[in-house]
Amino acid sequence: MNILVTGGTGFIGSHTVVELIKAGHRVVILDNLSNSKELVLGRISRVLELEGIKNADLPFYMVDIRDREGLAAMFEAEPVFDCCIHFAGLKAVGESVLKPWEYYENNVYGTLVLVDEMRKAGCKSIIFSSSATVYGVPDFSPIPETAQKHAAMHPYGATKSMLEDILTDLHTADVKNGDENPWNVVILRYFNPIGAHRSGLIGEDPSGIPNNLMPYITQVAVGRLAKLGVFGNDYQTHDGTGVRDYIHVVDLAKGHVAALKAVEEKCGVEIFNLGTGVGYSVLDVVHAFEEANGIEIPYEIKPRRPGDIDSYYSNPAKAQEVLGWKAELDLVDMCRDSWNWQKNNPKGYI
Ligand code: NAD
Ligand code: WQD
Repeated sequence: MNILVTGGTGFIGSHTVVELIKAGHRVVILDNLSNSKELVLGRISRVLELEGIKNADLPFYMVDIRDREGLAAMFEAEPVFDCCIHFAGLKAVGESVLKPWEYYENNVYGTLVLVDEMRKAGCKSIIFSSSATVYGVPDFSPIPETAQKHAAMHPYGATKSMLEDILTDLHTADVKNGDENPWNVVILRYFNPIGAHRSGLIGEDPSGIPNNLMPYITQVAVGRLAKLGVFGNDYQTHDGTGVRDYIHVVDLAKGHVAALKAVEEKCGVEIFNLGTGVGYSVLDVVHAFEEANGIEIPYEIKPRRPGDIDSYYSNPAKAQEVLGWKAELDLVDMCRDSWNWQKNNPKGYI
């Protein structure tokens, strides 16, 4: 298939581009480089070489999804896309509380412009990067896709929840209007992506002090940060620290390749959790990292982080049943590959 990947130089996007090309798809990458670097393209090529694919064609457009003219010119220059995998967006929860306008404008308005230019260009299939955050404080775990969505806990979460609804409405309206070619919308709700390609050539490169657990751990391991703060040890979990469903980014990337099957089958609207179905606590992750890599991670218990909840993890059964996709890699793989990336790139992409 001919696939447009927005946000394709970012963390999840870059890994997905690799898996798409390995699976034989043609990929065009679009990114405004607000949270990634162009040199990622060279890294993707090197990963593909290691995977036996030499001189892969990687067309790249440095275009913002809010830029109508830029998008229109890109669609004009490229053959009609079979699908857009839409990663582009801002994703920092704390920042979204301080800059809500920027999050709504970039994520919601940006996606409205993108889908408008897509339909003008004859592409009405989208795979959208959503998040487990749309479940809010879930009623129970493991969480199936049919679970009730709850009020967003921050503007970032609100953008994901709204965009799920907006994209669903596009499909519904097409059906009501008797459109012979209604939108296909695959909503993928990611749990907690960590890890990196096993080559250590591409990985997660947060700017500033990391907000998320694994990049914080790897930066302690590499000596950029002194010690990990563990946010709370009085949660209702087996060791008192927060439990999450960590998923290897390469498994997650493969989930997008699998999701193309739903698009090909003209699925209408389908929602899939992408997680492992297993919850690990903060201290489980710390100890797994220490064991996998033989490195001690100094940590101290800190107060709870506002907005955090005790525990949530996915029920990933639907993705296996419908798409034939299942996470294969375990927490040890995630810890090993996260560290391999960080130790080879102590300052990230430079
Ligand atoms: P990332 O920041 O590494 O990648 C996002 C990419 O989008 C970046 O390269 C950035 O430059 C680009 N971008 C941002 N705004 C843009 C715009 N207006 N126009 C064009 N490009 C733009 O983030 P990621 O971790 O790879 O996340 C990818 C997607 O998955 C995001 O939509 C994110 O919200 C979602 N998601 C991420 C996680 C996670 O924990 N990483 C979890 C759930 C959902
Ligand atoms: C995991 C656990 C923390 C950092 C976030 C977003 C979510 C999704 C994935 C985008 C929690 C603890 C963390 C640290 C710690 N992203 N922790 N010390 O909050 O589950 O999910 O990323 O859609 O929307 O909210 O991930 O990695 O920040 O935290 O103790 O320095 O690690 O309290 O229990 P989270 P996280």
